[in-house]
Amino acid sequence: MTKSLLPLTDELHDYLVAHGSTPDEIARELIEETEAVLPDVVNMQIAPEQAAFLTMVTQMVGVRQAVEVGTFTGLSSLAIARGMAPEGRLICLDISDEYTAIARRYWQRAGVADRIDLRIGQALDELRKLPTEPHLDLAFIDADKTSYPLYWDELVPRLRPGGVVLVDNTLWYGRVLAPVSEDDRAVVAFNDRVLDDERVDLVLLPIGDGVTLARRR
Ligand SMILES: C[S@@+](CC[C@H](N)C(=O)[O-])C[C@H]1O[C@@H](n2cnc3c(N)ncnc32)[C@H](O)[C@@H]1O
Repeated sequence: MTKSLLPLTDELHDYLVAHGSTPDEIARELIEETEAVLPDVVNMQIAPEQAAFLTMVTQMVGVRQAVEVGTFTGLSSLAIARGMAPEGRLICLDISDEYTAIARRYWQRAGVADRIDLRIGQALDELRKLPTEPHLDLAFIDADKTSYPLYWDELVPRLRPGGVVLVDNTLWYGRVLAPVSEDDRAVVAFNDRVLDDERVDLVLLPIGDGVTLARRR
């Protein structure tokens, strides 16, 4: 097997973050507010370079219809919504009114609130209510790890050919190499399973905590 050519040190990571699209004032304040008011769970937020990547993918795919599973305080949804044209629509799913109240404020400030339809409830129930035909251009999965296969199974058939699904935390802090907890094993099982899914082509990218990017054939 080939070896990685590039150990990503903290310094190199700082460099790559500084040399991609950096968060603007609104995203920076969202990151800072999440750190200040939710310090115990702030690590749920995607990394700034992932936000830039989500916006870029959204633009490249020409996304008009998207779904996000796991919104939290809104950084990933802000990134996706900003990559869409004004007529684009992003359905956001989360169980928390508390977390998403923060998201709503930042969507307003960024002028993208009218592109976003937030639905509070169990994500699986909400996904099952969506039209079943292949209409989605993009989906982002970033919620409870044990449900990843269920979200995948609801979302992939709803993607149009060429549509993409991005899945966060698929390197899971490196624990995929030595799984111990239920969540660790869930991510390992998910990664193994999607590898054999003939409906998609996929890559696992070492960005943030690992992002699987799959494209519907
Ligand atoms: C990792 S965070 C999402 C981070 C977000 N993408 C961001 O960029 O900040 C996971 C979110 O999933 C939500 N969640 C967990 N279980 C859920 C479920 N069964 N249905 C819907 N949302 C759920 C949590 O409330 C939490 O806000």
